[in-house]
Amino acid sequence: MAQASQSGPSHLRGMFAPQSVAVVGASRSQGKIGHSILKNIIDSAYGGALYPVNPREDEILGRRSYPSLAACPGPVELAVIAVPAPAVPAVVEDCGRHGVRYLVVITAGYKEVGTEGLTREKDLLALVRRYGMKMLGPNCLGLMDTHTPLNASFAAGFPLKGEIAFLSQSGAVCAAILDWSLSVGLGFSKFVSLGNKADLTEVDFIREAAEDGYSKVILCYVEDVVDGQGFMDTVAAIGAGTPIVILKAGASQAGARAASSHTGALAGSDLAYDVAFHQAGVLRARTMEELFDLAIAFTTQPLPAGDRVAIVTNSGGPGIIATDAIEARGLKMAELTRETVEHLRQELPPTASFYNPVDVIGDADDHRYDFAFRHVLADPGVDSVLCMLTRPAVIDPMLVAGSIIARRREHPAKPVVAAFLGGDNVAAATRELIAAGIPCFNFPERAVTALSGLARFQAFRRRAPRADRTIAVEGVDREGAAAILAGAREDRRVVLLADESAALMRAYGIPVVPSGLATGAEQAVALAEQFGYPVVLKVASPQILHKTDFGGVRLNLETSSEVTDAFFEIVDGARRYQPRAAIHGVEVQKMMRVGIELIMGVSRDVHFGPLLMFGLGGIYVNLLKDVSFRLARGATWEEIEAMVSETKAYALLRGYRGKPPADVDAVIDVLGRVAALAQEFPGIAELDINPLFAYERGEGVCALDVKVTLSE
Ligand code: COA
Repeated sequence: MAQASQSGPSHLRGMFAPQSVAVVGASRSQGKIGHSILKNIIDSAYGGALYPVNPREDEILGRRSYPSLAACPGPVELAVIAVPAPAVPAVVEDCGRHGVRYLVVITAGYKEVGTEGLTREKDLLALVRRYGMKMLGPNCLGLMDTHTPLNASFAAGFPLKGEIAFLSQSGAVCAAILDWSLSVGLGFSKFVSLGNKADLTEVDFIREAAEDGYSKVILCYVEDVVDGQGFMDTVAAIGAGTPIVILKAGASQAGARAASSHTGALAGSDLAYDVAFHQAGVLRARTMEELFDLAIAFTTQPLPAGDRVAIVTNSGGPGIIATDAIEARGLKMAELTRETVEHLRQELPPTASFYNPVDVIGDADDHRYDFAFRHVLADPGVDSVLCMLTRPAVIDPMLVAGSIIARRREHPAKPVVAAFLGGDNVAAATRELIAAGIPCFNFPERAVTALSGLARFQAFRRRAPRADRTIAVEGVDREGAAAILAGAREDRRVVLLADESAALMRAYGIPVVPSGLATGAEQAVALAEQFGYPVVLKVASPQILHKTDFGGVRLNLETSSEVTDAFFEIVDGARRYQPRAAIHGVEVQKMMRVGIELIMGVSRDVHFGPLLMFGLGGIYVNLLKDVSFRLARGATWEEIEAMVSETKAYALLRGYRGKPPADVDAVIDVLGRVAALAQEFPGIAELDINPLFAYERGEGVCALDVKVTLSE
């Protein structure tokens, strides 16, 4: 239902900083939601005009109240609606008539309650759209902007002013995070409870937060991204301006579907989100903790120049744990310059470690710690520093915190995070560091995760400017392809026959092995002679998907009598293997010289469209899982090249153990053609080419087996 809203500059500024707000359903009764909303708006010191609307009251919370929207003395830019569901349509109609631009519909009882609610929601949306209004909700907690300031919600509190924009599909998560943030002193710029996302979705609010001029990082908690294409467009337009971190929950059920192809099975249900987020430079948090750790890192730290991390610690064990975490999260342990190592060697005791992780050892006092940290931080080979402390009796954590804060000021361009391990002993020092803008965690892994988020975002920012070559898919016969698909539809088949699949490939300029369908042995021999021996025979049956299981594929047939025998054996075998399967005959193929066996394919994600897959092919595809994915939409040469180079198959293509390199350009070209085919024909649900033989450079590729499944 949700769709991308119009493009152009953000159109939601007035929703967060309206000239005037009406609260429809404002109430004098404490404990009613309409009371809380009005009180929150007043308490947030909102400076615009405020109109409580209630049919029975003249005054609520010291404000003049109006019986209807029409009775309000001035125009209303934003209306917050908290009346029971049956009363909502008339209120929305009123809003439309009186030029209200933005609605926040708090009321519940829509699609979250089932079919009847869904119908109610559709009607509500139609009404909103009819008047060209924009709606947050229904079924939401409301929105807040600390910079306006405006608290148009019924949350119990108002966040501290800050630079984190937080969007949440769950009102309960909003409420909990708000409460927690107040207890730890974390500030927000915007706080949005997305509700049912009937009209405005996270896509709209991401855009608004990216353009508001004060949100430094955008956090989302979502259960789905319904408008995948709008999401990709919006995030691409934001580019690397504002980091976006998303916690996407509900992975297991969201995209669950039955997959009949390798590509579909390997794509799984949640992979499209990973692929889309990766391509768009969005960081995916796996836990709530990670979501906020990253937010804190982005709002307090500069981006690192690179991924080299140095550790300063006063104990070995935690240093090793942190080192493991650094490698596990794709960061590198920095190599200290000889100069730094020499400095450390001169000043630290011989039992210390002068290399990364630098261990000042357990008897260090704050002076020794300070000395080590100063030199490590100044080292040109270090992009960011993790300061770790466990508290033996001889060191005062407060003094160490003071030195970290002071030294850091000398190098403001390098991220510094801390992990002070312990409880009460390090609590005050931890607070001191956090207050000074240095994230400090109880455990090393969280600190490393924060650093890795910064480095990943920096790497994304630095990705080559998008001078990507879009793949030119020339020599394509769209009408021919459309006719093949239409033919299968007419026959009410969802799996194309082998000859149809081959013809479809040819229509898109994808080289396929010469082949033909034989309904009798004589015809099989005739085809074999036409292609030239040796040939391959395969059973042609839409029901039999795994032909090798019963000997339904016969290779290397050299003579007409071998072809004749194989024909009858395959047909008999197929009848016995699957008696109810329709056997269309036997496919005769030219036996190709063996190349590097690759797989490529497409599966369709309901939100993000076709997903392109590439990897090592053959019969062990599911076992080896050497595959990579990209969204087919907008696939560029560079993106596909990156996708190919991520796999182990790439090592084979480049020429493994003295073998000559393969025709990688032809592989990329075919992937581009598959991507184009999948985009131009949304009726193709899944497609597998397995194997595709890749030959030596300049000799191209050849698709051996192609399976195309149409949507039901
Ligand atoms: N125009 C203006 N005011 C109206 C009105 C209208 N058309 N219709 C009713 N009102 C007034 C009522 O008179 C009442 O004021 P009062 O206390 O002075 O009598 C006020 O609006 C609220 O109506 P009431 O019938 O008392 O409803 P309520 O406050 O019990 O419930 C909702 C209204 C919206 C809160 C409720 O329907 C609801 O949806 N609750 C769930 C909200 C929720 O959980 N959202 C998701 C959070 S994540």
